[in-house]
Amino acid sequence: MSFDFDQIIPRRGTGSIKWEHYSEDVLPMWVADMDFVSPEPVVRALRERAEHGIFGYPSPPADLVSLICQRMADLYNWQVMPEQVLFVPGLVSAINVLCRAIGEPGDHVVTLTPAYMPFFSAPTNQGRICDTFDMTRVDQGDGTISYRLDLEGFAASLHPQTRLILLSQPHNPIGIEYDRETLARLSEICIERGIVICSDEIHCDLMLGDTRHTPTASISPEIAAHTVTLLAPSKTFNLPGLGCGIAIVQNEKLRKKIHKAEVGIVPHVNAFGYIGAYAAYREGGPWLDALCAYLTENRDVLVNYLAEHMPQLRTTVPNATYLAWIDCREAGIVGNPAAFFLEKAKLALSDGHAFGGNGTGFVRLNFGCPRPTLLDGLTRMRDAL
Ligand SMILES: Cc1ncc(COP(=O)(O)O)c(C=O)c1O
Repeated sequence: MSFDFDQIIPRRGTGSIKWEHYSEDVLPMWVADMDFVSPEPVVRALRERAEHGIFGYPSPPADLVSLICQRMADLYNWQVMPEQVLFVPGLVSAINVLCRAIGEPGDHVVTLTPAYMPFFSAPTNQGRICDTFDMTRVDQGDGTISYRLDLEGFAASLHPQTRLILLSQPHNPIGIEYDRETLARLSEICIERGIVICSDEIHCDLMLGDTRHTPTASISPEIAAHTVTLLAPSKTFNLPGLGCGIAIVQNEKLRKKIHKAEVGIVPHVNAFGYIGAYAAYREGGPWLDALCAYLTENRDVLVNYLAEHMPQLRTTVPNATYLAWIDCREAGIVGNPAAFFLEKAKLALSDGHAFGGNGTGFVRLNFGCPRPTLLDGLTRMRDAL
């Protein structure tokens, strides 16, 4: 089967936040939303459902839950029972619910920075205090950068009232999958302190090269008992507009707390969310394999282009996601680099500062787009510099 990821599909006028937030002369490479058409079986299933014409309250397709459990077993050798799978209309909503469900107002929630923006806002939305711990930037010696987690420093920094950690695995914005040993030790530290682990694995299917994903909860039953795993078909198959997410909660007490925190407030998943998820997980495998190969090539194009034309920019070499995290602090840019590229390159990138204090001077670039679009963006950056 072949898929044409090079095809450029106009998105202006379709109600796309990514494409309509900025003026028409700006190329958007910011929000985590890809410019690829979703797998054909997904589009077909949605069309068939729409043609039925009745849109009453939906229930999930009968075997969607068993499909998800089977997927966890096949991909990760992780045994998940049907009652442990909850549907949520979005992961940001689920993160907020968790902040509300765990601990009491005034308790602390910790996250590792740079971090996805709602990891800061969800705790404060729910009357908790958000603590951050900076990941350590590491020079790779070849012009690229990576990050390391100082586990002992993290343990020493924890506030006694910390009840929850918000973790992104693989990591947005860095674009890197935590290795099993780091995850295991981090989880051990959290369990010792009575901290619940929220492992947001929304990008887990977007593995580049030969990287393999490790769900935090799959490491051991003890970790599973302290972890809420968040998943979704949304990043994987480019369905974020359908609003279907999944929380795997193996601890029954935690499931009850979550239910109590969301009841009457969080709506059910809509009919198209369920249909899209079902078709994607059931029939989207070949498309996903081809996508990951294409994204891996895009990653390589980006890293090589920066090395050749903009060595003053230092990027991570993502092994997961379609997000590159680029240090612009040695590029001689005066002020905010995202504002610079927006003004001088007509290119919208995510402003690193929004990902926490140690993101100041960085930008995040979304390379989930056709290669000609990526090259257009890189050329704009080079010319602006
Ligand atoms: C780590 C992470 N979690 C959650 C989300 C958003 O999830 P949702 O659209 O289901 O609220 C994103 C989107 O970029 C993300 O990167």
